[in-house]
Amino acid sequence: MKAAVLEGTGQAFTVRDVQLADPLGREVLIEVKASGLCHSDLHVASNGAGFPMPALLGHEVAGVVAAVGPDVTEFSPGDHVVASPISSCGHCTGCLTGRPYQCRAPQETQRTPDQAPRISLGGQALTQFIGIGGFAEQVLVHEQLVVGVSKDIPFDRAALLGCGVVTGAGAAINSARIRPGDTVAVIGCGGVGLNVIQGAVLAGARRVVAVDLQPAKLELAKKFGATDVVNAGDGDAVQAVQDLTGGGADFSFEVIGRQSTAEQAVRMLTVGGTALLIGVQKPGNRLDLDLFGEIVLPQRRIVGVAMGSTSPHRDIPMYAELYLQGRFNLDDLVSDRITLDEIGQSYQLLAGGAVARAVVTKF
Ligand code: APR
Ligand code: ZN
Repeated sequence: MKAAVLEGTGQAFTVRDVQLADPLGREVLIEVKASGLCHSDLHVASNGAGFPMPALLGHEVAGVVAAVGPDVTEFSPGDHVVASPISSCGHCTGCLTGRPYQCRAPQETQRTPDQAPRISLGGQALTQFIGIGGFAEQVLVHEQLVVGVSKDIPFDRAALLGCGVVTGAGAAINSARIRPGDTVAVIGCGGVGLNVIQGAVLAGARRVVAVDLQPAKLELAKKFGATDVVNAGDGDAVQAVQDLTGGGADFSFEVIGRQSTAEQAVRMLTVGGTALLIGVQKPGNRLDLDLFGEIVLPQRRIVGVAMGSTSPHRDIPMYAELYLQGRFNLDDLVSDRITLDEIGQSYQLLAGGAVARAVVTKF
């Protein structure tokens, strides 16, 4: 099959013919119909972040089940599914207490070193980024990473449920547990940040302040329910949020992955407020805050969040249903539909902040 392979950190994506194994045990083979370009793939493509290369990136996939391994019970060929990069074993303390995103044994969803690799190129194994490797015509993943969705949802929108939607909306709904009347600030209004905004709106936030550098993103943020927008290029974003929320937000979200904006997230909080850090930070980034004046005295909390504290089998069907009822916006998230060959070019546009979400839809 064809796949956009990344041979090494900093290199270009190249479309190659790769070998795909047959499904074993609880593995599901999915014919990919849509595969989203998330910023996390770009972080790995440019910094490596410890992922062994060569690799197959892409982790936001929707498609049709093509074949299943002998131990798969939940899926059959023809099912419409989303692959979500939350690798959970299903039976550790994290999984059994409803926190699959804190699974203690995610490696159980991978093949063991004595088994043939799922995907290889000229005899060399390809790393499937966060268990998926979605920039390809097909993906072979563990059943635990697969969630069924309604056939009524178009694939390009269903794909976003796998990462951008659950990461963003989940951070607002599950991680922060925003309550009606809370005030919220969201720094970074890309594919993930826009979902934090609509998650906060769904949870009943009174004020949702969107912060970005791109006027086009701020316009989009309003479409997703932001009540106020702040262009961080126009002055002090912290002061602007403090003013708009009458002394600071109850919750702030950093959805970029920069040290400076993470510090801003803490500084724009009210007394007792919580900063949720979502953006993938470069190794070595630190917070430079005055511990007493900025944390202890104002009783602020700083929380690291992964995958929006999501239970995929509970949450993905929920967002899908809300979308079909017209209560959750997936349509305006998809800004570009591209081919496998256009991934590199499209990531350059994403790095420039020009697109919400590009999705590979032509294979
Ligand atoms: N201040 C405000 N906004 C900024 C700044 C800044 N200093 N720098 C960048 N931005 C904005 C960009 O204009 C863009 O709209 O942040 C947004 C980032 O969006 P995307 O590039 O689309 O990234 P996304 O896919 O949403 O991911 C955001 O979350 O899950 C993580 O790995 C992901 O770290 C990434 C983050
Ligand atoms: Zn992602």
